[in-house]
Amino acid sequence: MPDGQKPSAGAARIVDLLDLGAGHLSGAVDMPRREAARLLGEVLGLEEAQVYARSDEDVPAPAEVSYGQLIRRRADRVPMAYLVGRREFYGRRFEVDPRALVPRPETEHLVEATLECVGVGAGARVLDLGTGSGCIAITVALERPDASVVATDLSLGALAVAASNCRRHDVDGRVRLVRADLLSALRLQAFDVVVSNPPYIDIGEWHSLMPEVRDHEPPEALFAGDGLDFYRRLFGAGELFAAGQRLLVEIGKGQLDGVRELAERGGFEVEAVVLDLAAIARVVRLRRR
Ligand SMILES: C[S@@+](CC[C@H](N)C(=O)[O-])C[C@H]1O[C@@H](n2cnc3c(N)ncnc32)[C@H](O)[C@@H]1O
Repeated sequence: MPDGQKPSAGAARIVDLLDLGAGHLSGAVDMPRREAARLLGEVLGLEEAQVYARSDEDVPAPAEVSYGQLIRRRADRVPMAYLVGRREFYGRRFEVDPRALVPRPETEHLVEATLECVGVGAGARVLDLGTGSGCIAITVALERPDASVVATDLSLGALAVAASNCRRHDVDGRVRLVRADLLSALRLQAFDVVVSNPPYIDIGEWHSLMPEVRDHEPPEALFAGDGLDFYRRLFGAGELFAAGQRLLVEIGKGQLDGVRELAERGGFEVEAVVLDLAAIARVVRLRRR
């Protein structure tokens, strides 16, 4: 919509569409007006603040149609990140679609802890298990330009999203994507640091999840039996790791004791536990004895 455009008969104004959209979203999302403004901004190519500032301007008919479609999908609890096709992670933009988990802010703690292990100028070799959108692998590659990264996933769809993000961030030559079921087909000892944000939700919690997660994110990125299945397999393969090798995992609320026990049984010692901003134990740094 060009600057200074005069309202024309029949065309809806920004403010009217905001009211309509917010009304449609109320009851479904926490901040209906803000989300409506974000979606209207998306179709008009405007920032949220510009949407408010230009509230008297007309909206072209095709944009109004696209906006209506987005509002309906958001009312169906499709995550905002899937509607706009992106999410910020560690200060960078990652493309996302329903083939990959939406990167979460708490996973930035896992990246921080990994970067501490992957020193600057060390030429470290890093393995990211279950890469999803590629957010961990790509961030490590960008923050440690001398590191080489292998990123795996079982899902071809997730690997396609990760490949697209590798191109977007220009690391497609430095992050190698491999389709693998957990540790199969990997020579683990070739890596200095192994990192994973695996599926860790107990399938029994399905009913209590937000509809955005339960109904729209890929189940293979969420659920792991009683929540600990992935860790069980990972630590159960402890003999494949070299003595002194580092492994960092993200865990869910209340899983620290269970994860610690499995890890110790698999020959790992817990070196550090990182709490997230809600004081939940979120990252465990382990070392193979
Ligand atoms: C919780 S998501 C994490 C995605 C991404 N690393 C992140 O932090 O946003 C877990 C990922 O593990 C993948 N996955 C699940 N089971 C797997 C398996 N057996 N082997 C490899 N990857 C697996 C899923 O497809 C999903 O992309």
